[in-house]
Amino acid sequence: MDVYYFDNAASSWPKPPDVAEAVGRAVADNGANPGRGGHRMAVDAGRSMFRTRAKLAKLFGVRNPNDIAFALNTTAALNTAILGYVREGDHVVCTAVEHNSVRRPLEWLKATKSVRVTYVETDEDGTLDPMRVKESVEAGTRLIVVNHSSNLLGSIVPLQEIGEIAKTRGAALLVDAAQSAGVLPIDVSAMGIDMLAFPGHKALYGPQGTGGLYISPHVEVEPIVFGGTGSQSEAVLQPTVRPDRYESGTQNAPGIAGLGAGLDFVLHETPANIHTKEWALTQRMMEGLLQLDGVRILGPAPGRARTGIVSFTAKGIDSAELAFVLDQHFRIAVRAGFHCTPLAHRTAGTEQSGAVRASVGAFTTDEQVDYFLESMQQVVRSYRKE
Ligand code: ALA
Repeated sequence: MDVYYFDNAASSWPKPPDVAEAVGRAVADNGANPGRGGHRMAVDAGRSMFRTRAKLAKLFGVRNPNDIAFALNTTAALNTAILGYVREGDHVVCTAVEHNSVRRPLEWLKATKSVRVTYVETDEDGTLDPMRVKESVEAGTRLIVVNHSSNLLGSIVPLQEIGEIAKTRGAALLVDAAQSAGVLPIDVSAMGIDMLAFPGHKALYGPQGTGGLYISPHVEVEPIVFGGTGSQSEAVLQPTVRPDRYESGTQNAPGIAGLGAGLDFVLHETPANIHTKEWALTQRMMEGLLQLDGVRILGPAPGRARTGIVSFTAKGIDSAELAFVLDQHFRIAVRAGFHCTPLAHRTAGTEQSGAVRASVGAFTTDEQVDYFLESMQQVVRSYRKE
């Protein structure tokens, strides 16, 4: 499609060509149900899923790939982790930049299970002082949840320090890696991560409908979906064996085959190199945006660490209207509005205005960024003349 795509934080595009090929092959050559039958096609489909699981394990420093369960998306993975781990009356610590996929299950637990939730404030740009997390932990804190990188601000939390706090205080650490998996270093063992929820369709370059949840072997999470797993069919209760315990029903085998191809790309390029490239693109973009009259950039200042996200407001121009003009007149795809994170908007002071978010990916070029900046210049100038 002839589009200047700056919505990679919602779903990456384009994908490496091998991704579509792998999905097509899985559909055309092997449509059997993985884990449901002993015939060769079913066994092959199961092996293909395991290969993707093993690549994920390699990327995230997971010792046993079976500690990773596939999920439809990060939201499904976060719901399993939160609803399956937190018990009635527990206390949970999270941050003031969480996505609704964390906030809503927590607020539901608060409303129905007497769970107490502390939202640790960050600075306006999303900077989180780990000392604030430490001070918020109580005797009854069972879980700490952090958004590794804010989907609005692009800010990055100090995972290592938070992992140490969780370990020392006996709380489990759940990381929402929706914007970081594939671009920031994640090693669950070295960082003390007990649960990691990640998308397949963003910086791992897989198709939509893929994602997963890593659960440490030392942590027990109750499943929230029960049913056929292809294993222990005679058992009345859900099997305890992983990953089956968390993978009821037929899985998205073609999508997971595509995710395997996306992971090949990421492992070959390396998250560090992809991040370095994306960071340079964000700096170019911010430098250009800051030349424009009335533009305010959210999140970390130029020169500081951030993922490939640049959200901004333009004084006097409605963010949804700005995104519409970019789409209709310049074929530029950005996301605008409230980004499913009212908490982060409150932190950034944009709870009334919303914001435009431009997000880059591994295939974004300097030329595309320059086109975006020229287009923005024209739009802002035309509004200022009115
Ligand atoms: N949570 C995704 C986003 O930030 C969809 O756009």
